[in-house]
Amino acid sequence: MKREIIITADGSSTIHIPEWDEQYHSKHGAIQEAYHVFIMHGLYHFISSEGVSESYKTVSEVSILEIGFGTGLNTFITLLETEKLKSNIDYTGVEGYPVLADEINALNYTQTLNAGNRAKLFKAIHNVSWEEKHQICDGFTLIKRKQFFSEIDDTEAYNIIYFDAFGARVQPELWTESVFKIMYKALKTKGILVTYSAKGSVRRAMQAAGFTVERLPGPPGKREMLRACKEA
Ligand SMILES: C[S@@+](CC[C@H](N)C(=O)[O-])C[C@H]1O[C@@H](n2cnc3c(N)ncnc32)[C@H](O)[C@@H]1O
Repeated sequence: MKREIIITADGSSTIHIPEWDEQYHSKHGAIQEAYHVFIMHGLYHFISSEGVSESYKTVSEVSILEIGFGTGLNTFITLLETEKLKSNIDYTGVEGYPVLADEINALNYTQTLNAGNRAKLFKAIHNVSWEEKHQICDGFTLIKRKQFFSEIDDTEAYNIIYFDAFGARVQPELWTESVFKIMYKALKTKGILVTYSAKGSVRRAMQAAGFTVERLPGPPGKREMLRACKEA
């Protein structure tokens, strides 16, 4: 399918798929959405959560699975947060259709985020080989897996899932009970899944897979989003 780079409301770029009229991020602001949904309600919630045991806090290892590595924006902003945290982050990005080098070069994330000397780390995220673990910088390792979501077979491996698939309007098969069961199995107990979607059918599919689900205020342009927890 044809893909083109567009600029979203906060000045950050994203990829638009004309055939689906769908974007890799919100048109209301790619970076704003990524921070709100995945960093604030995902990463920071997990780290500060009272549900996390004291022993866990001292271990300070956080493992994250991203459903849809895409442009690497969520990966990069998570990396940028790492230096503010005591935690080491082990990040796994799953992607079935990797973005091309020319598309990556056309994205403006390092400028928009004023990444300065950390801009080279955005390149590193994209240049490292797939299927192997790489230490991108202190406190941050990355494995990129070229894989379809239905093929994920991890068990009790992650604290957080960033569920960032294309919307249910265009890929309804990715927002089903069977996919959320794969996610539930992949999470450790007390692990969380965050997503920008707030659809009732998505919430019910998560609940049917075993999750406890809460609605939270959404990023700019969206009233609500969802966070699902694997209670036990
Ligand atoms: C909304 S975009 C992800 C955006 C990404 N998180 C980012 O920060 O750029 C959804 C991603 O899922 C990928 N994808 C779609 N269907 C897939 C499937 N069945 N298995 C694996 N990847 C898939 C797409 O190629 C796309 O990169």
